[in-house]
Amino acid sequence: MNMIEIKNLIKTYDNRRVLDDINLSIKQGETMVIMGGSGCGKSTLLRHIISLARPDSGQILIKGQDITVMNEARLVEVRKRFGMLFQSGALLNSLTVGENVALPLVEHTKLDRKIISIIVKMKLELVGLTGFENLMPSQLSGGMKKRVGLARAIAMDPELVFYDEPGAGLDPITTAVVDKLIMDLTKKLGITSIVVTHEMKSAFRIADRIAVLYKGKVVDIGTPEYIRNSKHPYVNQFINGAPDGPEPLRRSKDDYLSRLTSFDED
Ligand SMILES: Nc1ncnc2c1ncn2[C@@H]1O[C@H](COP(=O)(O)OP(=O)(O)OP(=O)(O)O)[C@@H](O)[C@H]1O
Ligand SMILES: [Mg+2]
Repeated sequence: MNMIEIKNLIKTYDNRRVLDDINLSIKQGETMVIMGGSGCGKSTLLRHIISLARPDSGQILIKGQDITVMNEARLVEVRKRFGMLFQSGALLNSLTVGENVALPLVEHTKLDRKIISIIVKMKLELVGLTGFENLMPSQLSGGMKKRVGLARAIAMDPELVFYDEPGAGLDPITTAVVDKLIMDLTKKLGITSIVVTHEMKSAFRIADRIAVLYKGKVVDIGTPEYIRNSKHPYVNQFINGAPDGPEPLRRSKDDYLSRLTSFDED
């Protein structure tokens, strides 16, 4: 069965179609990377899948249930099954590492302190931070903070984990370490992962499949091997980092002038 099924998803902001008829299926246990240039709609798509935004039309089925028609109370329940690693790691600086990892458990369960503390230890061990409970986030490097974020994301044993730019702000070696951790955890714990990134190296390393987003559409999808050899002109331009291709460096002068005129009229 598909873990997630997105059907004809459309979202318009200010008369601009940011998501333009997206169709995408993600299998159970799969790591799906959503890759694409700045502004193509990656974060918007992610926000829809975790039900922080409502589409204009279309469906998002999670284990067969359409979340676009659920009320907030049911969404809260659904979101408990999700883990989320935010771009910055998003740790609370006033709490210790252990308290940060414990947060979802304290918020969403009635487990007692002792049990929570055991779970926290286990999760920190899984991300290679055994014994770090009592440190403050300010005492950690960027890569370690990411790992604490990851421990927190898996605190509730989620079936689904979302990552927004897991390598953002990390050097290439630390990124590789975090990538490896994501891969290990995904396989070990049988998690379905959705990773949004514009970093190709990461994408090719961790993906079972890559979906390339361009102007709100999935323009190509397949294994890293398939995407590397894609015939699609934009995908080609993107993976080769070429300045020439469908995505121009500059707009034509006429296009530019017409935009200026329309701004004047506002
Ligand atoms: N709430 C909103 N209101 C208006 N426009 C929005 C809103 N959210 C996103 N957009 C627009 O939708 C487009 C896609 O944004 P999005 O953040 O999804 O891109 P992205 O692919 O994540 O880019 P990046 O790689 O830079 O993070 C942008 O042009 C953005 O301005
Ligand atoms: Mg984004």
